[in-house]
Amino acid sequence: MMLYINAPQTTGEQVKDQQSSQELFFDKWQHLYSDRTESMRSSEVRDLLAVTERPDIIALAGGAPYTKALNLDKMSRILGEIMKDGPAPLNYGSSEGYEPLRVWLTKFMADEDVACTPDDIVITDGSQQGLELVGKIFVNPGDTIIAEAPSYVGALNAFLSYQANIIQIECDDNGLKIDKVAEELEQLKKRGITPRFIYVIPSFQNPSGGTMSLARRKKLVKLARAYNTLIVEDNAYRRLSFEEEPLASIKTLDPDNVVYLGTFSKILSPGLRVGWVVAPRPIREKLIFAKQAADLCSSSLTQRVVTAYFAETDMKTHLKKLIGIYIKRRDKMLNACEEYFPRGVKWTKPKGGFFVWVTLPEYLDTTNMLAKAVEQKVAYVPGKAFFADGTGRNCMRLNYSFMKESDIREGVRRLAEVVEQEMELYRSLKL
Ligand SMILES: Cc1ncc(COP(=O)(O)O)c(C=O)c1O
Repeated sequence: MMLYINAPQTTGEQVKDQQSSQELFFDKWQHLYSDRTESMRSSEVRDLLAVTERPDIIALAGGAPYTKALNLDKMSRILGEIMKDGPAPLNYGSSEGYEPLRVWLTKFMADEDVACTPDDIVITDGSQQGLELVGKIFVNPGDTIIAEAPSYVGALNAFLSYQANIIQIECDDNGLKIDKVAEELEQLKKRGITPRFIYVIPSFQNPSGGTMSLARRKKLVKLARAYNTLIVEDNAYRRLSFEEEPLASIKTLDPDNVVYLGTFSKILSPGLRVGWVVAPRPIREKLIFAKQAADLCSSSLTQRVVTAYFAETDMKTHLKKLIGIYIKRRDKMLNACEEYFPRGVKWTKPKGGFFVWVTLPEYLDTTNMLAKAVEQKVAYVPGKAFFADGTGRNCMRLNYSFMKESDIREGVRRLAEVVEQEMELYRSLKL
């Protein structure tokens, strides 16, 4: 790990901290950075990934799909065939994205009752880039946006990097509390503030695993209209529904006031880095300008891979296979939570997606506890990462999509032991 020290007068050499044996770098460029860098924060997820790559750690952190479930022979054949077709995949493509993929996506979106044409879609480098571009085109320093509490750390970081003021509103079993959103919007209106957008992950949310009810989706759409703001709907997990047909996406309820973000990361491969945005035309145009400045275009090669893969893959069969695996892993995790966690610990029971959200007694701090968990060779994401204001300290996110079932059970067992020890310590100190 490297550490940077703010020292504008120094010459900028690298030294070694004798005690921690960390590499320290004097940052002599302090006076040159934009104000924006002040609000950038390190993603705890990313820091953790470094630890979780160690093979001895049971990584319940991260949010990766189980790519071993993919047909790798098929993938490599497709890659070979694409390369035989000529050099176009090795060249730049259009900023809005590979047209055959956008055409295919109109059908994928039609399955969600979202009517769109290829000209309503921009292909992005995963939906993370969609979030970043949305931040770029809407947020001035200090602008307010509304999000769920907790919310996806990557989105918070993207919006914070544009110096957004993020107001997070609590959720319950039916998702975002709409009456609280209404109260907040009214308060803001009194102060002359219109939030730039309301960011939601309505289905199988990251990190809580929760889903917003249809009734609340309808209310949210009305509220956004009434207060003259926009909804940004991040639907990364919608298709990974374990029990029933997933609920209507918010975009279907108000196509003209919702920016929809999709991704192939969770249903195919995050390594391909292909996502998309469906947006009303004027917004789409701005997104394309922003994307041109960011990266010119997404990978010509991987857009073709996705297109070719799904051209010969029945989506229903494909999803059924993945869902079958994830249901077993979810059940393994929930059973292990039931079996091992001490009283006083609560957790969500997701009906889709990748995550279980665990709430410990208020006096525990999962950021501090992480080092002990890693000592016991298990990792999770501390809850604090999912709140812009640093709350959520007694919570943590557990991922079940990536590890095999036996590891999930053992991981939760180790984690429960750490939690129990922390609770015991608290009791013995009578804090
Ligand atoms: C809710 C949500 N949105 C967006 C992303 C970004 O995914 P990608 O950029 O791989 O599409 C993630 C990844 O974990 C996510 O959980």
